[in-house]
Amino acid sequence: MSDRDEIAEQRRKNLKLIQFSKDDQSLVESEKPKETFADVGGLDEVKKKIRMNFILPLQHPDMFAAYGKEAGGSLLLFGPPGCGKTFLARAVAGEIEANFLHIELQAILSMYSGQSEHNLHDIFEKARESKPCVIFIDELDAMGGSRHQMRQHHDRMLVNQLLLELDGLQAENEQVFVIGATNTPWYLDSALRRPGRFNHLVFVPPPEEAERARILELKLAGKPAQGLNLGKIAAQTRLFSGADLEQVVKDAVESAMERMFASGELEPILHDDLVKAAKLRKATTLEWFSTAKNYATFSDVNQDYQIVLDYAKKHGIK
Ligand SMILES: Nc1ncnc2c1ncn2[C@@H]1O[C@H](COP(=O)(O)OP(=O)(O)O)[C@@H](O)[C@H]1O
Ligand SMILES: [Mg+2]
Repeated sequence: MSDRDEIAEQRRKNLKLIQFSKDDQSLVESEKPKETFADVGGLDEVKKKIRMNFILPLQHPDMFAAYGKEAGGSLLLFGPPGCGKTFLARAVAGEIEANFLHIELQAILSMYSGQSEHNLHDIFEKARESKPCVIFIDELDAMGGSRHQMRQHHDRMLVNQLLLELDGLQAENEQVFVIGATNTPWYLDSALRRPGRFNHLVFVPPPEEAERARILELKLAGKPAQGLNLGKIAAQTRLFSGADLEQVVKDAVESAMERMFASGELEPILHDDLVKAAKLRKATTLEWFSTAKNYATFSDVNQDYQIVLDYAKKHGIK
């Protein structure tokens, strides 16, 4: 093993996943997620953006420096629920050789009020100590979601703290990356969307037909099955989210298990189980599109959501 390999090996061993524990209300270290990009079906464009912005700069900081690009920065993932924002961000952690801090804002907000800002600060401090590091702030829509006066005051303080932290990173952001995720970017405090903060939006759309087949394949991997034609199921599940497809597989598994308990033998999942399950479910992404299209049409000053309109048009979403 060369010195360089040895250093890389050592670094891999030192990697941590740091999460917020709801129980003891502090940061805890946990296992790095096993998922990698290979477990995420489709989303090639999004993966490419993440590779370009996070993974390659971490692996080749010198090359990026040659172009005057620093290794650091932020992306905001948005799109309908269940299409893989959280899943993808976790896979980033599995994919890269960097520490990964996963922040669920809901968990931080639900704690004793007034503590949220301090917790947020602690998290960013921790990130700076554990460079290279990716901070993932999930459920950004949790901020500013309530109309309640008290809540608003605390939200405001939390937003301000987040702004401070993001700007602080910008000043010395080397090797610290931030990924945010939200279903409703249009509700985000506009200050959060300014350059250097979450100005880079990345749309995470529902999977296309071939991607749906791939997701079904991933969710069925290792399970007993017979005579499946996943292409047909994919064609039958227009606009289904990854989560919807996962649910279809779960329902089909249940049918096979019912047969198993009746016959006393291992029964494979059949094509018809999937057909039946897919018929009984509806795409849960449609509601999101109707709201999103509204924002895209009437209040999209920066043309952030043109991509949503394009997608809707291409897929005949009314
Ligand atoms: N592209 C995908 N590939 C594989 N699984 C997916 C994909 N999109 C969604 N899923 C499945 O759906 C579940 C919910 O997705 P999630 O990432 O929580 O959605 P979001 O955060 O966008 O609401 C995931 O745990 C995963 O099992
Ligand atoms: Mg999510």
